[in-house]
Amino acid sequence: MAEAIMEIDVDAPPSRPNKGKSPSASVVNGVKSGPWVEKYRPQSLADVAAHRDIVDTIDRLTNENKLPHLLLYGPPGTGKTSTILALARKLYGGQYQNMILELNASDDRGIDVVRQQIQDFAGARSLSFGVKFSVKLVLLDEADAMTKDAQFALRRVIEKHTKSTRFALICNHVNKIIPALQSRCTRFRFAPLDAAHIKERLQYVVAAEGLDVDESGFAALVRLSNGDMRKALNILQSTQMAYQRVTEEAVYLCTGNPMPKDIEQIAYWLLNEPFTASFRYISDIKMRKGLALVDIIREVTMFVFKIHMSSDIRIKLINDLADIEYRLSFGCNDKLQLGALISTFTNARCALVAAAN
Ligand SMILES: Nc1ncnc2c1ncn2[C@@H]1O[C@H](COP(=O)(O)OP(=O)(O)OP(=O)(O)O)[C@@H](O)[C@H]1O
Ligand SMILES: [Mg+2]
Repeated sequence: MAEAIMEIDVDAPPSRPNKGKSPSASVVNGVKSGPWVEKYRPQSLADVAAHRDIVDTIDRLTNENKLPHLLLYGPPGTGKTSTILALARKLYGGQYQNMILELNASDDRGIDVVRQQIQDFAGARSLSFGVKFSVKLVLLDEADAMTKDAQFALRRVIEKHTKSTRFALICNHVNKIIPALQSRCTRFRFAPLDAAHIKERLQYVVAAEGLDVDESGFAALVRLSNGDMRKALNILQSTQMAYQRVTEEAVYLCTGNPMPKDIEQIAYWLLNEPFTASFRYISDIKMRKGLALVDIIREVTMFVFKIHMSSDIRIKLINDLADIEYRLSFGCNDKLQLGALISTFTNARCALVAAAN
């Protein structure tokens, strides 16, 4: 088999829409109930939303019998595992279980596993009755959790068994994979899904489940998912369990995220009200709506980018907000940090007034 070990670093493109099968039955992927992330996991390469360039390249390499070792990396919920599982299904069909060794973070992946389990699987003769692609596949999911020793040992194993076995490494942080392994694989970066693809996939699920989701609901799901399809599906499922109709408000209430209009209101208080009044109003809205200060800070920071102010004041403000967020991550007192938030804005307001004079 031709060695197609090359460096392709492909960003997920905003490409042609996913052509999923038309939704109909309530049994999808053999799953009737349970989490929708599994029920609607793409079964074939054509079902994978976005990343068309990557999926088409992998498909083409497979069709030409030139599949290289693969390294798929990128943030969570972007379809890396689904793509490889769909590829394995395409390659092996019913023989899937015999031809693939799947190891993920729940398995031990120290050097012993590379020396024994992986070596044994790669070295064994394949039971490939009626399979077009007779080369086996070792799938190392969450490969960034492998120890350095195991990664070093894997270098040699990959080379030794290239004739009979392909390796597919999947990870979130590619810098945790040693360069020697990276250079043995063809790299594909799975970028966060863009809004259009997330919405399209959500619409597919909504139609299949017969849900009532309005436009504001879709927009909120897309916004809160941040390009993570898994997160989008999980929020959709929990919101529809809690509320009949999935609207923006239902989505925000269900996830406990502050609504955009609440953030606007909080930013207004921070920029206009005196210290004690701001403290009282924000504490009150936090209590009433069950908001976490860290979520408020994150959203208010995004809001600061939209307000017109000189860049030195903005830089100081954002830096201070980042410090508060950092302190909150260590479990500091919420009330004190709320005070710090209001003080930060008070300082910025003073600086704005001084700059205006
Ligand atoms: N590109 C996609 N097209 C369609 N569904 C997707 C896509 N990406 C993610 N999903 C949905 O999200 C779920 C999780 O996807 P997957 O396990 O492939 O993510 P991942 O990239 O491997 O994430 P992680 O890095 O956390 O392991 C899938 O079951 C599927 O429902
Ligand atoms: Mg995965």
